[in-house]
Amino acid sequence: MRANEVADGIYRLCANIGSEVLFEGIWPLPKGASMNSYLVKGKDVAIIDGVGDWDGVPETLYAQLDQLGVKAEDIRYVIINHTEPDHTGWLRSFSSMNHDFEVLATARGVELAKAFFGLDVAFRAVKSGDSVDLGNGKRLVFEEIPNVHWPDTMATFETSTGTLLCCDAFGTFGAIGEAFCDDQLDAAQLEIFEREALRYYANIVGRFSQQVINAIDKVSKLDVRIVAPGHGPIWRRNPERIIRLYQRLASYAKGPARPLVTVLWGSMYGNTRKTLEPLLDGIAEEGVDAVVYQVPQSHIGDILASAWESTGIALAMPTYEYQMFPPMAVILDELGRKSVKGKLAMRTGSFGWSGGAQKELDEILERRHMGWHFVDPVEFRGAPTVDTLEQVRRCARQLARQVRESALPDSVF
Ligand code: FEO
Repeated sequence: MRANEVADGIYRLCANIGSEVLFEGIWPLPKGASMNSYLVKGKDVAIIDGVGDWDGVPETLYAQLDQLGVKAEDIRYVIINHTEPDHTGWLRSFSSMNHDFEVLATARGVELAKAFFGLDVAFRAVKSGDSVDLGNGKRLVFEEIPNVHWPDTMATFETSTGTLLCCDAFGTFGAIGEAFCDDQLDAAQLEIFEREALRYYANIVGRFSQQVINAIDKVSKLDVRIVAPGHGPIWRRNPERIIRLYQRLASYAKGPARPLVTVLWGSMYGNTRKTLEPLLDGIAEEGVDAVVYQVPQSHIGDILASAWESTGIALAMPTYEYQMFPPMAVILDELGRKSVKGKLAMRTGSFGWSGGAQKELDEILERRHMGWHFVDPVEFRGAPTVDTLEQVRRCARQLARQVRESALPDSVF
């Protein structure tokens, strides 16, 4: 990897992680992910955020510092925007090479950095509006943006270039190659990163959407000319593009989103599976798109991303021992944990000696405060009849109509 110049005196250092890694030990990364660290050179040198301590890292970071003619001991300030170890794991190694640096973070960040790394160095707690003058015209101003992603989070703004170093905020999944800025990526590559932004958003920060909106309000008061996040490309030609995308994704937290239905289905012996065809026909007849995931075969990370951008959710699952099909209960609970709220929904499925799926479904919806609005369920004993399948089709049409009427128009942002 090579260090990249982002703006005068600001450089991006990067470590990619591959598709074999589960982010946070949970989330698949089919296109990998990048960990971006930033070096700001004034008279003094500051490093803003770092990288994890996966195999081969942070040595890759030190190699990039070498390219810039900077030694570890030249770094006077280590600025931690966010303490999660994907950005701070390198500190263990760094502190063995440099014993004289100051760590700047929010008060929560200082607390967490001490707990994670126990460094024997100077710590300074900063708050919104505090600044550090690096000399040679480089000045860093801090803005607290709590819970994007942890409560400790802040953004660092370099005033001479208008560069917002914002860690998890405005991040995307997807590894970075030679092209690291939006002005070097073609339209197709930008679209891929925007899809990776959806996966990242739904998996990592969706639960904190109100805080994302608060953060956008705060940074909109700054003269932001470059958005340089901790993950994904830098937005230099069009910083508004990623900010607007985040604004849109945050707005999905209320429920209405794209005119799309995520269909989740699981079947024990193929009876519930038979409802899939009329269900999809009904949605298509209303001119609404659907994305289908089989449960438990599909990963929750993918389902979550799809559910986040969908206005409607259709569940097709059998009752299992008086309750929901177990893997569907797990999925529903996780959607609730990640605050997938206010969706329009339908349910269909087979039962044998007893129903009971609805009771558990209601319990999860209530426990997780999900506020989904269901059309009447279509439950059937054993195998579906022709009439039942027709009922499923009508139910799916009803859902799709509601989705079409409630979805957010593209022109909102
Ligand atoms: Fe990229 Fe929440 O750490």
